[in-house]
Amino acid sequence: MIATRLTHEWTVRYPLVCAPMLGVSGGKLAAAVHRGGGLGFIAVGPINDGDWLAHEAQTVPTGTPFGVGLIAWDLLRRPELLDQVIRVQPSVISISFGSVAPYVKKIHEHGIRIVTQVNTVDEGLKAQDEGVDAVVVQGCEAGGHTGRAPLWPVLQALVGQIEVPLLAAGGIATPQGVAAALMGGADGVWVGTRFMASYESLLPESVIHRICQAGTTTTILTSLFDNALNVPWPARYPGRVLPNIFTDQWLNRPLTDQASTQLQEGITNKDPELMPVYAGMGVGFVTHRERAADIVRDLMEGACTWWKTRQTLFTVGE
Ligand SMILES: Cc1cc2nc3c(=O)[nH]c(=O)nc-3n(C[C@H](O)[C@H](O)[C@H](O)COP(=O)(O)O)c2cc1C
Repeated sequence: MIATRLTHEWTVRYPLVCAPMLGVSGGKLAAAVHRGGGLGFIAVGPINDGDWLAHEAQTVPTGTPFGVGLIAWDLLRRPELLDQVIRVQPSVISISFGSVAPYVKKIHEHGIRIVTQVNTVDEGLKAQDEGVDAVVVQGCEAGGHTGRAPLWPVLQALVGQIEVPLLAAGGIATPQGVAAALMGGADGVWVGTRFMASYESLLPESVIHRICQAGTTTTILTSLFDNALNVPWPARYPGRVLPNIFTDQWLNRPLTDQASTQLQEGITNKDPELMPVYAGMGVGFVTHRERAADIVRDLMEGACTWWKTRQTLFTVGE
């Protein structure tokens, strides 16, 4: 058992959040993560809408707490989304990649917690001032869109400065990673990539196969796919992806219509060599399909065991 103030405040067994991942996290994954003892999220972004969310939320058994993850610049373009999110009654809303300030009061008025991912020390302090209930430090080891600073420098700087619970994200994919983050000052971990190949993931089989074959920490941080698809991600949030034929071909060349056509076809055909496969630096630890609840238990019970083993190796005293 590992209890932190996050487990007390959020009434979850383990201080583990399965991160919102667009195209991966729906109601089934959120429910399964909670069965395993963590908190799951449903991810909403430019590829889905409030109706989709309502449908996914219905698959979560009544009484099971879950979060909804939003993307700040997407919410700015369609502010009505927030009411649709509030209607499905999540226990937590995360709004990342932009300011949360316009939303804190309204979310709190509905008795819902608000959290945000931050990529720099200044962003962490600003989020705290804006009134979030937890700050997630997202290191650039993370899969999907992220900043440019690694987890440890930002986490170390914010420990002791953030009064609300602090979570660590980016590259955490093993019990050792969980134990290190908690020992380093985080109140909880926010894990994405490790759940990508779970049975409850929404990803197509072809992409899951590619993830399980990656066998590496080699990923690329790039805005290539956003540029080729004309998705208005701010340039300060590149995406961490697996290298593939498309990146080999277009990374260092001006994009042409041929690139857009190739990419669209790749997405339509769910071809992992031509579409973006977002994944974090911990992707090499994902080798086979697993149930999400088993992943939660493996990470958290494994962290306890690891901790106890390591303790016997240290002598701490005067
Ligand atoms: C495939 C994928 C999609 C993601 N989509 C979102 C998203 O929609 N919203 C969000 O806030 N974060 C998103 N993220 C980032 C995660 O919330 C989290 O920061 C990241 O997964 C943590 O790093 P890890 O993948 O190394 O565990 C995504 C990550 C991945 C891997």
